Amino acid sequence: MCGIVGILGKKPVALQVLDALKRLEYRGYDSAGVATLEDGHLARRRAEGKLGNLELKLSEAPLSGAIGIGHTRWATHGRPNETNAHPHATDKLAVVHNGIIENFAELKAELQAEGIVFETQTDTEVVAQLVTAKLRDGKSPMEAVATTLPRLRGAFALAFLFEGVSDMLIGARHGPPLAVGWGDGEMYLGSDALALAPFTDEVTYLEDGDWVVLTRTDAVIRDMDGHPVDRVRQRVPTNSFLASKGNHRHFMVKEIYEQPEVVARTIAHYVDFAAGLACPPPLPFAWKDLRRVSITACGTASLAGHVARYWFERLARLPVELDVASEFRYREAPLDPGELAMFISQSGETADTLASLRYAKSQGQRILSVVNVPTSTMARESEAVAPTLAGVEVGVASTKAFTCQLATLLSLAIAAGRERGTLSEAEERRLVAALNGIPELMTEALHLEGEIELLARDLARARDVLYLGRGTAYPIALEGALKLKELSYIHAEGYAAGELKHGPIALIDETMPVIVIAPYDSVFEKTVSNMQEVAARGGRILLVTDARGAREAAMDTMGTIVMPDCDPVVAPILYAVAIQLIAYHTAVFMGKDVDQPRNLAKSVTVE
Ligand code: AGP
Repeated sequence: MCGIVGILGKKPVALQVLDALKRLEYRGYDSAGVATLEDGHLARRRAEGKLGNLELKLSEAPLSGAIGIGHTRWATHGRPNETNAHPHATDKLAVVHNGIIENFAELKAELQAEGIVFETQTDTEVVAQLVTAKLRDGKSPMEAVATTLPRLRGAFALAFLFEGVSDMLIGARHGPPLAVGWGDGEMYLGSDALALAPFTDEVTYLEDGDWVVLTRTDAVIRDMDGHPVDRVRQRVPTNSFLASKGNHRHFMVKEIYEQPEVVARTIAHYVDFAAGLACPPPLPFAWKDLRRVSITACGTASLAGHVARYWFERLARLPVELDVASEFRYREAPLDPGELAMFISQSGETADTLASLRYAKSQGQRILSVVNVPTSTMARESEAVAPTLAGVEVGVASTKAFTCQLATLLSLAIAAGRERGTLSEAEERRLVAALNGIPELMTEALHLEGEIELLARDLARARDVLYLGRGTAYPIALEGALKLKELSYIHAEGYAAGELKHGPIALIDETMPVIVIAPYDSVFEKTVSNMQEVAARGGRILLVTDARGAREAAMDTMGTIVMPDCDPVVAPILYAVAIQLIAYHTAVFMGKDVDQPRNLAKSVTVE
C-alpha cells in the first residue's frame, strides 16, 4: 500500500520527508519520490525500487525548500518505474496519492480531448491535470481542489503542493487514511501516525470526504461540501512506534518471538487471571440475544475468523457465517437486523473489509471489530471494538497479530458460551486455564526453531507444497500455505485433510511435500489415514503434531515437529508458531525479502 508524507517546516524538509517515508516502508512499495518548493519553484526527485535509490539521488542532487511532500508507491496503474513514481507534477503543482481513482479513464479522455498530454500511465496524473486545469481557469488552489474532489470516484488519500505557494499544503481523504500532525510552528501530513512519530505524537485523522488546508500554524478541515468540521486532535502514545528489529535479522522473526508476550497481554485484556474466568470488556449487545454471527475479513485475518467459527459454534452454539470480505461486500447477503457482524483486521484499513463493515451496518447489523490499530477507520466506524494488543506489526506477513486475533476470538467465544449458558463455570475455568497457558507453550514451541530451519532447507527445493488439517487445524493449514506462498513464492495450497481423496491426491508424488497439521485430538486417527494415503503414493510428509501424535502416527516422514502438549481447543494458536517458522526459514534460505515480499502491501486499502 502507498505511503504519503507532507511537511510544512521551518528548515529544509527533503531528508525529513525521506525519514518519514522509511517509517512507511513496512506497507510495501516499489518506487518513491519527494517534491519540494525551492525558492517557490517545484522540484522533484524520484526513484524506482527501494528508498536507498531515492536517498542516493537526494545526496547527488539535494533538494532545498522548507515545504515538501513524499510518497512510497505500491503500483496499481502503470509499471513500478521512475516515470510512474509519485509525486506527479505539472507546472502548477505536485501531488501524491494513495488509492485508486476508478473513473480515471473517462476523466483522462476528457482532459486529452482538451489537448492535455499525459506523461504517465497512472490514475494520479489525472488528478494533477484536473486541478491544474482549474488553476489555469483562475481558481485558487483551495477552489481548484474543492471542485475537483467531487469528480473523483474510488479510493484516495491525496497531498498537494503548489508552485509559488510556500506556506500551504492541501490534503484529502476518501478511503485510505490520512492524518494531520500538529507541530510547533510546523505541520505535517502522513498516511499514519507512525510516519509522523519523529515529529509529533499529536495527530488528527481525517474522516472520509474530509479535506484539509494546512499552514504552519493551523489546519482547517472541511467536508466534501466545503463546510468546516471538527475532528478529534489526539495524542498517540509514542511507545507504540518504537518499531525496530532489535537484535533480530528481520521484523518478521522479531514479531514471531514477541508472540508469547503480546498474546499474554491480549489475553489479560479478556480474562480475569485471579478468578480464572473470562471477563471481556462490556459489549453493547448480549450474546444470548443473537441467533447468528457473520465473520468477515481478508487474508490471514479471515483465517483467524475461520478458526473462530469452530469456537463460537462449539462453545457458544452460535451459528457462524464466514466469508472473505471481497466476496461478502458484493454478495448482498440477507442479514436479519440486530444480528452480529464481526470484522477482523490488523490494520483496520483494509478496503474490502471496511466496505463489508459499511454494508453490514447499512443492513442493521451490530458491528464488532477485532483490530490491532485502535485509531483505525474500522475501529472508529464500529459499534464495539475488541482490540488485539500485538503492538505495531511491521512485517508484511502477519504473525503476532494473527495469534492475538485468535486469543481475542477464543476469549469472546468463551464469554459468549457462558452468557448463553452453553458452557458451565467449570468448563469456562478449564478453557481460560488453557488460554492462560498458551504464552508459555508458545515460548517452548519457539525452541523448535533450529529443527524447523533444517526442515525448511528441504522444503525450499519444492515447486509445490500441500498443507492438510482437520477441524481447527484446517484453517491453520490454510494459513501455513498462505505464509509459505507470500514469503517464499513457492506455490502452496491448504486443504481439509478429508478432501484429499476428492481430487488433490492426484497431485501426490515424491516431489510434493505434504505438511500435515495434526495435534492428537478427536480426529487425529482420520488424519493418519490421510497420511497413509499420501505415503502410499510416494508423497513426502512433514508432520506437525505432539508427542502422542508422533507415537501414534508411527510412519516415515521427511520430518516430524513435535509441539508441546496442549488442550486441543488452543492448538490453533500454538501451532501457528510452527507454520510461521516453516515459512520464514524457507524464505530466508531462498534469499527472499522476508519483511517486504514482492507485490505485497501491509494493508490493502484499495479493492
Ligand atoms: C497476511 O500475512 C497478509 N499480509 C494479508 O493476508 C493480510 O492478513 C490481509 O491483507 C488482511 O490485512 P488486515 O488484517 O490488515 O485487514
